[in-house]
Order: sequence, then C-alpha cells, then structure tokens
Amino acid sequence: MGKGWYCRKRLRLNSLRLEGQKTVAIKILQQFDWEVPDWVIVPGGNLGNIYAFYKGFHMCKELGLVDRIPRLMCAQAANANPFYLYYKSGWKDFSAVKAKTTFASAIQIGDPVSIDRAVYALKNCDGIVEEATKEDLMDAMAQADSTGMFICPHTSVALTALHKLRNSGVISATDRTVVVITAHGLKFTQSKVDYHSKVILDMACSLANPPVNVKADFGSVIDVLKTYLESKDLKQ
Ligand SMILES: Cc1ncc(COP(=O)(O)O)c(C=O)c1O
Repeated sequence: MGKGWYCRKRLRLNSLRLEGQKTVAIKILQQFDWEVPDWVIVPGGNLGNIYAFYKGFHMCKELGLVDRIPRLMCAQAANANPFYLYYKSGWKDFSAVKAKTTFASAIQIGDPVSIDRAVYALKNCDGIVEEATKEDLMDAMAQADSTGMFICPHTSVALTALHKLRNSGVISATDRTVVVITAHGLKFTQSKVDYHSKVILDMACSLANPPVNVKADFGSVIDVLKTYLESKDLKQ
C-alpha cells in the first residue's frame, strides 16, 4: 500500500474492526443496566455495524448477561438501498445497485461487503430494514438539531426509520428504542448549511432555520442572540 492513503474497503473486511464495533452492543446493554431494549436502529452501508451489533448482543446472551436480544433495524438511504430491496424481496434476490448521491455519504454504498453477515444477523433477531428519502432524512436532521442534538445525516436516516415505524405501528409508544448516532454533526455541516439556506434543489426544506451571518467575535454573537431572544419574548 502506498504512503499517504489507506484502502477503505479492506478496512471494512478487517475482522478486528467488527470486533471493535461489537463493543457498542455491550455498552448499550451496560448503560441500560442489562435491561434489553426492544429495538436498536443503525444506519447501514457496508453493513459491518449491523452485523457487529448483532454479534455483540448475541455474545452477551450466550454469556448469560441477558436473556434475549433486541430486534435490530437497519436504516438505509433510499439512494443507496440494496439491503432494503433485498429485504423487501423476502431475501430472494440480491442485486447490487449503483448508489446515487446522498447526504449520508458514508452509507452511499451499492454493493455492501458484509451483505451475507447482515442477512444472518437480521434473520436471527427478527430484524427489519427501512429506507429514508433525501428530503425525509434532512427534515429529521433539522428536527433533531432543533432539540440541540446536532446529528449527522446517517443518524437522521435512522431517525427517519424510527418515525416511519412508529407511524406504521411496528414500533409501539412503549417500546424501548435505541437510535445509534454514528457520527457528530460537525463532520457534515455543509448539508445543514444548504438545508437551512434553502438551496437544495427540489427540496422544500420545510424546517429551515435560516442562518444569520455574524462577525466572528463574542460580542457580535451575543448581540444577535440577545436580539433574537428579545424578539421571541415580545411575541409571547
Ligand atoms: C458515520 C457512519 N455512519 C454509518 C456507517 C455505516 O456502517 P456500515 O458501513 O458498517 O454499515 C458508517 C460506516 O463507515 C459511518 O462512517
């Protein structure tokens, strides 16, 4: 391998990577005091994470730490959805797709490396696959950000899946559901700026909160915030 670059695909075939990702499942259970959540939702591209999470949950069950495992839901971008299409076919026909552009760029994958492992995982936990359109994922990201979360577009694919499954009743209001945040919003700021500036082609950007340009100093930021908060007070 040449100096200065690494092979991403090979990294994703690295079994040690899966062992590392597996620890997320153990952490989830530990943080819930070994009470198993009903659902865990994960954005999926190459499908290593979803398989590794299954492996981690399964291992905890084998060790007697828990008596069941959660149902896993893999959430894909509609523009890169080979796993979703395979699931919808009843696991009959797998075809790689040519992934189209998605804001969730880390899951813009048409031919997932861990496809067979992921099918095995979902079959063994009664898992499901959902997809999220470009507009739905951007709206979900804006909605989550308005609560202060500041999530990445991959996480909002998973959040969209949660909304869809709640609306269809598959996930009930009392189901304990974990949505895994896979990256920080700061890694993907351009899509947020574009959405809130309403410059994304063919997208209503209905939850846009237009950016305000401010001089890069503390006083100017405080002035803008003060004006904003006072205007809110007046309206109430
Ligand atoms: C931010 C982010 N989210 C989700 C994923 C999807 O994980 P996987 O490719 O294992 O399905 C990745 C993979 O690199 C990622 O970087």
